[in-house]
Amino acid sequence: MTTASTTEFFDYKVVRQFAVMSVIWGIVGLLVGLVIAAQLIWPALNFDLPFLTYGRLRPLHTNAIIFAFGGCALFGTSYYIVQRTCQTRLFLPKLASFTFWGWQLVILCAALSLIFGFTTGNEYAELEWPIDILITVVWVAYALVFFGTIAIRRTPHIYVANWFFGAFIIAVAILHLLRSVEIPYSLMRSYPVYAGVQDAMIQWWYGHNAVGFFLTAAFLGMVYYFIPKAAGRPIYSYRLSVVHFWALIFTYMWAGPHHLLYTALPDWAQSLGMLFSLILLVPSWGGMINGMMTLSGAWYKLRTDPVLKFLVVALTFYGMSTFEGPMLSVKTINALSHYTDWTVGHAHSGALGWNGFLIFGALYYLIPRLFGQTKMWSVSLMNTHFWIGTIGIVLYVASLWVAGVMQGLMWRAVGEDGTLVYTFIESVKYSYPFWVIRLVGGLLYFVGMLLMLYNVLKTIGAGKAVDAEVFATASAKA
Ligand code: HEM
Ligand code: HEM
Repeated sequence: MTTASTTEFFDYKVVRQFAVMSVIWGIVGLLVGLVIAAQLIWPALNFDLPFLTYGRLRPLHTNAIIFAFGGCALFGTSYYIVQRTCQTRLFLPKLASFTFWGWQLVILCAALSLIFGFTTGNEYAELEWPIDILITVVWVAYALVFFGTIAIRRTPHIYVANWFFGAFIIAVAILHLLRSVEIPYSLMRSYPVYAGVQDAMIQWWYGHNAVGFFLTAAFLGMVYYFIPKAAGRPIYSYRLSVVHFWALIFTYMWAGPHHLLYTALPDWAQSLGMLFSLILLVPSWGGMINGMMTLSGAWYKLRTDPVLKFLVVALTFYGMSTFEGPMLSVKTINALSHYTDWTVGHAHSGALGWNGFLIFGALYYLIPRLFGQTKMWSVSLMNTHFWIGTIGIVLYVASLWVAGVMQGLMWRAVGEDGTLVYTFIESVKYSYPFWVIRLVGGLLYFVGMLLMLYNVLKTIGAGKAVDAEVFATASAKA
């Protein structure tokens, strides 16, 4: 009789690669955000060079920050979480490695093509058809690795975080395919297949659900893993998390028309969008409360653990932006807010507070573990990052709220004789001070991320890359 021993391990290499690239793309995305924020104040900053114009850099900012910074964080955390919660290693590790290199190629092609002016003109889906095909290939590989890992799990049930990641992967596939159908007429140009109000409807079904699934459902997957881990407590209510999941994914799909209020879209569709947006408050807050309540009995840890601070403030901003969103969907409020900086303020309270801070918390949790350390090189730098980032968000969001309401009120002010009181350019002039405050807020947030980069590099320098973590050794008698 011989005794063979098998060793089981988690694959960390691909998680580590995605985690580090998320930090790097985050810096790039924020930097471009700062440049466009500065260009709004000093338009001459485009130096009359086509590739530095606002029209090219704005989509570069949104794509880099959402799909490169956010995307790498989501690939990395989902690969980490699915292995740990399924107690098994990644299915097809080579394919997982392909998703890493494939996604970096998508990012490079996206950046270059946007700078050179190739765009479909559809917000958040600007990339031209060859890149869309590459995205599809990488995404199918991602789905195979993720669902394959779930299929070979050793746990009896599928932990709720994986439900959120799974829904995100399926929904993004559907959104991408339907939004990106186009008829190519040259290597980097295509005709759209939709027209008029149908195109608008498809665009905002896509755009809203990009927020709903890329920037929300997948991030909730992170919440359901990292908050219990950092708090050292089980999730407050598992039952609520399952209700939260089904209610959220069902409701999101219908709310897109709130981006098209007072347009040529049929009125009933606009009202439907508004109604579903109002309903969306309930599952969103259900999830937020579930995350917060997980901390009961562990609130004292907030004093010492910056990871938890980032995660809790992220949840708070989630609560705020999912309260503000339904309010902005109310037709009478949207009549004031639409086209103004209020929308941009709302977008960034979600983006900087919810998405950015959640990524920072998750990466600060992961990076030491991926480099054989117990904690980051400097905890006080993490705390400085937290405070500087929080002040940055408050300046960014509050200034745009004020600017937005001011712009909306100026545009609708009518004198006794029925003529407009202000010209449009006057509203631009009065907006400058607020744009300067936004720029200062953005700068603080950016400096916070530079501190993070320094801290990450020091942690990497002090540690050793961990490719795999052994989690079980079994002896089998043959
Ligand atoms: C240093 C921090 C940042 C600065 C200075 C910044 C600046 C800007 C500016 C100036 C715009 C264009 C607004 C307009 O056209 O009026 C914009 C748009 C946008 N940014 Fe940022 N940004 C930052 C961080 C982020 C982050 C972290 C995210 C996402 C996670 C993000 C996502 C977006 C989105 C989605 C839009 C489009 C919003 C809309 O159309 O209403 N930004 N950003
Ligand atoms: C219950 C949840 C939410 C609802 C009902 C909602 C609703 C809205 C509404 C009504 C607008 C303005 C549309 C317009 O007038 O053009 C908007 C814009 C936006 N929201 Fe939300 N929101 C929600 C949550 C979030 C979250 C959590 C984020 C970020 C992660 C976010 C990101 C954005 C962005 C980026 C825009 C600008 C889109 C654009 O015009 O490019 N929203 N949202």
